[in-house]
Amino acid sequence: MTQPITRRSVLSLLPGGLLAGALPACAGAPSPAASAPGARDSRSLELNPASPFPADFAWGVATSAYQIEGAASEDGRGPSVWDTFSKQPGATFEGQTGEVACDHYHRYREDVELMRSLAARAYRFSISWTRVLPEGRGQVNEKGLDFYARLLDELLHAGITPYATLFHWDYPRALFEKGGWLERDSADWFAEYAGLVVKRFGDRVQRWLTLNEPNVHILLGHMLGLHAPGLKLPPEKAVVAAHHCMRAHGKAVLAMRAAARPATHPEIGCAFAFLGYHPVSSSAEDLAAAEELTFASKERALARPAWWLDPLLRGSYPADGLSVHGAHLPPKFERDLDEIHQPQEFLGLNLYWSEPTRRGADGRPETLKLPAGYPRAATDWQPITPQALYYGPRFAYGRYQLPIYITENGLAVRDQLFLDGSIHDLQRSDYLQRALVRLADALREGVPVRGYFHWSLLDNFEWSDAYKQRFGLVYVDFASQRRVAKDSFAFYRDIIRSNGARALVATTVAADVVSP
Ligand code: FCB
Repeated sequence: MTQPITRRSVLSLLPGGLLAGALPACAGAPSPAASAPGARDSRSLELNPASPFPADFAWGVATSAYQIEGAASEDGRGPSVWDTFSKQPGATFEGQTGEVACDHYHRYREDVELMRSLAARAYRFSISWTRVLPEGRGQVNEKGLDFYARLLDELLHAGITPYATLFHWDYPRALFEKGGWLERDSADWFAEYAGLVVKRFGDRVQRWLTLNEPNVHILLGHMLGLHAPGLKLPPEKAVVAAHHCMRAHGKAVLAMRAAARPATHPEIGCAFAFLGYHPVSSSAEDLAAAEELTFASKERALARPAWWLDPLLRGSYPADGLSVHGAHLPPKFERDLDEIHQPQEFLGLNLYWSEPTRRGADGRPETLKLPAGYPRAATDWQPITPQALYYGPRFAYGRYQLPIYITENGLAVRDQLFLDGSIHDLQRSDYLQRALVRLADALREGVPVRGYFHWSLLDNFEWSDAYKQRFGLVYVDFASQRRVAKDSFAFYRDIIRSNGARALVATTVAADVVSP
């Protein structure tokens, strides 16, 4: 049964952290435990004006090329697998495609201006591989490179630090026809592209991400057929595709470092869908169970963090995953591990939700069902579990010891323009606040989180859900391309301006909200 929501008190916000000292702060270190699902959590929303966010914290927003750019066949851009997949009957909601999307290709100035007015310090975007290399390799499309040059200049002029992702799922169609990730050479194709981009933009971009969520790309696009390229490979083949993705990452890192001018000190990482687990109590057993399950890879190995991050960051596949998939890996796969295992400056975590876990009676970790009526985003897959923003960084840092960026976090809401001309997306602001409260807990415990990128700046093409789901801080009327800042935009702007403190000071303290 769900608990009733009651409001304990209403506090008005005073600017500039004036409440500091006047009201009790949260007890220093957070309890490592989450409440049991359905239990009440009065702690996480208590007043706590002391912000643990470092002064140079990268407050940002994230997007990706196919989801916002449009101009799909303009100025020499070649087709990606998403261009063709989204046109297949039944592939996307109502057959919608990213052909026009947010028309960002033509409206990027307006969009950078929006970011400037958001006070965003950083912007994570992706480069469309086929805009710069229409066939994926070989012939360079100068007009495509020009677009990113203009975008970067605009960002730098606005004082916004670019974080460029090289691959956010829009794989070149021409290379897919040559075998895609199943082909061993695919690692060299990606490295060629990565080197080219860094050579051109290494003077303006210091922070790079190679692959976005390769685990989701392989799972949904190569095993379940739900995303482009729409394959339903058996595990033994998907394991090979995943292995080549990892090699592509490693080879790209080498090519990027070779292409960058040394004085620019490129910082390279990847953005990973860190599908994790959180404990349901404060007991050490449940905490250990959640961590154990987070890094287990015996089941659904290809979606699991350790299957990917262990080779990338520790140079070996996890033993439990190998016991299932070792035989599916290419012969002599061990020889590739040195290439895969490249030093990275940071780890990007895309965090949307996590699953409640405890130590079962048989000693093994067990996940719990969320109670009926549990709060969820408009997307079915996302229950409101801000714990992910605490346990995700904590577990990831514990195992991989790299500085962390939250490269994505956000919430889909069925937003609409209200009669008063505004978009009141309180659910998004509330989630953002909960997420940052939890992230602050991780920072207080010494987890080096360097930045937070909200997904997304704009409502955009949400893959197979197309325009049904709205993730933006800015509403996009896709017919007119008019942008309207939602209420959450102002909320996030105030958080950024206060360097996070605003997220830790609740104007309305809903102390007895149902706590996930
Ligand atoms: C992530 C993707 C991103 C967006 C969000 C909602 O898995 O990286 O492109 O679709 O989910």
